[in-house]
This record gives sequence, C-alpha cells and structure tokens, in this order.
Amino acid sequence: MPAFPLPPGSTIGILGGGQLGRMLALAAARLGFDTAIYDAKPRTPAGRVSALEVTGAWDDRAALERFAAACDVVTLEFENVPVGAVEILTSLGAEVAPGARALAVAQDRVEEKTFLNGHGCPTVEFEPVDDLDGLRRALDRLGAPALLKTRREGYDGKGQVWVRDAAEADAGWTAVGRRPAILEARAVFVRELSVIAARGRDGAVVSYPLGENRHEAGVLRVTRAPAIVSDHTRTAAEAIARKVLEGLDYVGVVGVELFELEGGRLLVNEIAPRVHNTGHWTQDGCLCHQFEQAVRAVAGWPLGPATAVAEVEMTNLLGPEVERWRELATDPSIRLHLYNKGDARPGRKMAHANRVLRTLP
Ligand SMILES: Nc1ncnc2c1ncn2[C@@H]1O[C@H](COP(=O)(O)OP(=O)(O)O)[C@@H](O)[C@H]1O
Ligand SMILES: [Mg+2]
Repeated sequence: MPAFPLPPGSTIGILGGGQLGRMLALAAARLGFDTAIYDAKPRTPAGRVSALEVTGAWDDRAALERFAAACDVVTLEFENVPVGAVEILTSLGAEVAPGARALAVAQDRVEEKTFLNGHGCPTVEFEPVDDLDGLRRALDRLGAPALLKTRREGYDGKGQVWVRDAAEADAGWTAVGRRPAILEARAVFVRELSVIAARGRDGAVVSYPLGENRHEAGVLRVTRAPAIVSDHTRTAAEAIARKVLEGLDYVGVVGVELFELEGGRLLVNEIAPRVHNTGHWTQDGCLCHQFEQAVRAVAGWPLGPATAVAEVEMTNLLGPEVERWRELATDPSIRLHLYNKGDARPGRKMAHANRVLRTLP
C-alpha cells in the first residue's frame, strides 16, 4: 500500500488510452504527477501525453507486470477493463481504484440494477433474459415497448434494440446477437440528468451540480449544466450518488445517469465507474473539474471544490464534425477540447466544445 497522499513526482497508471485517459493525464500533469497508460493499442490519445505507454492485451501478464512496476497507484478510464486484469494488478501489489467490485457491478446491467435496487436506488423494472422463451416471458411481465440490451459491453447505445410487441421478440433476440441480455421496461422520462460525484480515500464525498443531457441515437450530444432542478431533485440525486459510492466502498469519480420522471422522481439508468462524458462541462464550469477530482481521489489528496463558476453547454463533436474546430476556434465563448484521434469515423467521439453561457455569481 503506497503512502497517501501521493507526492508530486509519483506515477498514476491509467487503464485505457482514450480521451478520458488523456484528460485524466493532463489533469495529473498539472498536479505534478507522471502518468502511465495501459492499452491494447500503441500511440493512444492518452499515451501521447503520458510519460509511459505500455501496450498489451488485458491478459498479458508480462505487460501488466511492467505497468504495475511503473505505477504508484492505478485507475481506469475504460469500464470494460476485464476484472481479471485488475485482479492480476492487485495480486502484483498494485493499488487499483475504483476496484474490481465497482467494475464487476458496472459491467453487467443485471448486476448493476440489482446492486442499485439493493441500495435504495430505484431503476426501471427489468428481467434478465437468457433465451428467446425468457424474452417472451419478460415481455409478458414488463409489457411492450421494452428495451432489450446486452448484459455486457454495450456503450453509446450499441447492443440495444426496442421490442415493440411480442411479435418482434425473435427479431430483437437476433438483433442483440442471442447473447445474455436484459429486458428493461420503458422509462417514460421528461428529461435525462446525470450527477458526477467523487469519493476520496478518507470517505469524503462531493457531488457536482446536475447536468441535463440530450442523446441522439443512443450517443450523448449535448450536456447543459448546472441543470435547473428543484431542491428536492438535487438532494435526491446527491443521495443516490452517495449510496452508490458508499455501497461500493468507492474511491474515484463516478458518473450516474438518471431519468427524471413527470413529478420529479428519479430513476437511475446506469453508472459508469470513471469520469464521464456528461461531466466534461466541469472543465470550464467548475473550480475543480472531474478529471482533477479523479486524480485527487485516487492519489489520496483531499477532494477539490465541485462548485460551479459558469453555466456551460457541452457539445460532442462526432466523426467529421471535428473539422468544425477552425470555425469554433474563432468563437470566444467556446473552449475546445480535441482528442487527437486519427480516424474521424462517423459517430466517433473526436472532441467536445464547451460553450460558456455565463459566469455565475
Ligand atoms: N429503459 C429505458 N427506457 C427509455 N429509454 C432508455 C432506457 N434505457 C436507455 N434508454 C435511452 O438510451 C440511452 C442509452 O442507454 P444506456 O443504457 O445509457 O446505454 P449506454 O451504455 O450505451 O450508454 C439512454 O441515455 C436513454 O436515452
Ligand atoms: Mg448510458
């Protein structure tokens, strides 16, 4: 166990080399840390701004050993890091936060909802689905339309299909690849909100003001924050975040996606055991943004202030939209965050633009 708080000059390992890892690495650098990135591919967005990049598969023991030897603490930016990789790192003496339990819960939609409901956080009704007959029974109980999702490895709306009536069961089951799945009752929400929160090694918890999120085709398009919500909603969201963090004995930043129903009741959609796209507004809207907060938490520093100083509208630039950087760079209200990913495939998250709408008193 390293001695916390880690002093500047220590190395923070990050599992995954995408844009979240890149922004974590930049925040770590500001506090005087080095970062080491572990990813299956070389020259990742995060690796390009880190002191060390280790390239290896998630079960490559030798590569994981090299990585562990370089790190004083390890965190992650990719929620589908196999739990086995974290277990290997832990067996090598690495301190990984958030740990294997948080990952295991967040990686399986049935485990996740079971955990949430068991800790007093309501979700839509759901049924695990293992075969076509099971899907038919689940449709009978939950009613249609309902959303069929793979239990594992879905992201950005991938691995999901609406089943509009019993006659679509067969097609739906095929569409998700006849894999272990979950059927979810439809959430009739007024809007989607999220709360980003953090827990330090001392058990302290902070929550950021809520974000209001708009998705298109399952992918986040815009977050506007701080969202205008009632005191009751804000308190309820903060209570949910605290239950999640304490229930998982969590260290780090978590993203909690919420559905707001008519009348203000909140359901949890899903949790992400990492910094979250709906928290990118904090980079230009809060005193201490989610990336610095994550670094502080895993390094055993006191948490920073999650206070909002500006109202921000964050827009994801997907695929070729990244070419808009020229025009956006001329707009003084826009703060650009570009990920230096080579290939601007349609739909791929390439950058985001934070528009500062106004500073807050
Ligand atoms: N049960 C549901 N009812 C209605 N809409 C849903 C439901 N589950 C997901 N969605 C919509 O689909 C989006 C993506 O689903 P989500 O479970 O968050 O998957 P991903 O892991 O791909 O982000 C959500 O943000 C929401 O807009
Ligand atoms: Mg989601």
